[in-house]
Amino acid sequence: MGIETSCDETAASIVEDGAKILSNVVISQIDIFAEYGGVIPEVAARNHLEAILPVIDKALSDAKCSWDDIDAIAVTHAPGLLGSLLIGTLTARTLAVLHNKPLYAVHHLKSHVYANWLSPERQTKLSSIFPLLALVISGGHTQILYMPAHNQFEIVGTTRDDAVGECFDKVAKILGLPYPGGPSIAKAAKDGDPSKYHFPHPKVDGLNFSFSGLKTAVLRTAQKEVGVPISYPSHKLKELLSKQQVCDFAASFQKTAVDILCEKINMGLEKFSDARSVLVAGGVSANQVLRDALPDAYFPATELSGDNGAMVAAACYYEIQSGIKPVDPYSLNIYPRISIEN
Ligand code: KG4
Ligand code: ZN
Repeated sequence: MGIETSCDETAASIVEDGAKILSNVVISQIDIFAEYGGVIPEVAARNHLEAILPVIDKALSDAKCSWDDIDAIAVTHAPGLLGSLLIGTLTARTLAVLHNKPLYAVHHLKSHVYANWLSPERQTKLSSIFPLLALVISGGHTQILYMPAHNQFEIVGTTRDDAVGECFDKVAKILGLPYPGGPSIAKAAKDGDPSKYHFPHPKVDGLNFSFSGLKTAVLRTAQKEVGVPISYPSHKLKELLSKQQVCDFAASFQKTAVDILCEKINMGLEKFSDARSVLVAGGVSANQVLRDALPDAYFPATELSGDNGAMVAAACYYEIQSGIKPVDPYSLNIYPRISIEN
């Protein structure tokens, strides 16, 4: 059983042998946060508290399983929102003691990576995938990881400021598109011209990223386009943009973000010439323009790109295979900001 509550999805899933999904229940708080334009940590934690036990019960019943069928419990303990992580881990710790199951603590980015292994066919296909470069792109992270084998991660590139998903979310806010920005920008971009506006690529060393300048470039270009000074409040800009301008900005921004990601992953392949494959993971990996731009890369099933419990269970399976030991349910801690290398 995999349990995930690191941000604003309450999720539990039962997975067999690290690949076969028997059930996958995800309750998203997106509707609650859409009107605020972002997640409010305390509200997210309270909602997790209400949802977590029904979600776990449904995961068991959808899989037609009882607690006797569960071999282990895996839970996200890092990184993420403090209150959200606490609800998931306290629940998992309690259930592990109550039902006498081994408990595994899984890093959230590792889970996103292992979403790629979810299905028996994928598991077979990925059996000789190492060494690989993983592009992990979510609302909180933008990293390139070098993975020589299962459970071995070296961070070879990271963002100097905003994560790419965060940039999608912030640009969406400027354009007056709903949270989360990724899907709403992708939708608006379908009716837009990706070559209408040009935004510079940031000059960042090596395989590192920077996305805060891109967000500002969109803002400044939009201000210029509608003829207001740079002091004009960004939250009012949407009132002045036409529908077509919003679509053109969405398409041009999305193209630039995708180009930057591809540029860095190609640099990574030059630097790590032994890498046999590229794997993409995290919420932003749902992006279709990115998928089309990297036809040889591995992507998780689109519906498993975002946060879910199945990927936590898959990651746990490979921890067990690698001989990683369970944690003490009485003392498991949470780490809101810890790196995947620890
Ligand atoms: O992995 P995730 O569900 O949560 C975190 O761990 O952060 O990622 C959420 C992020 C959000 O920033 C959201 O805007 C972005 O993934 N996202 C997308 C798409 N779908 C979700 N970004 C670009 N294109 C998408 N289709
Ligand atoms: Zn995530």
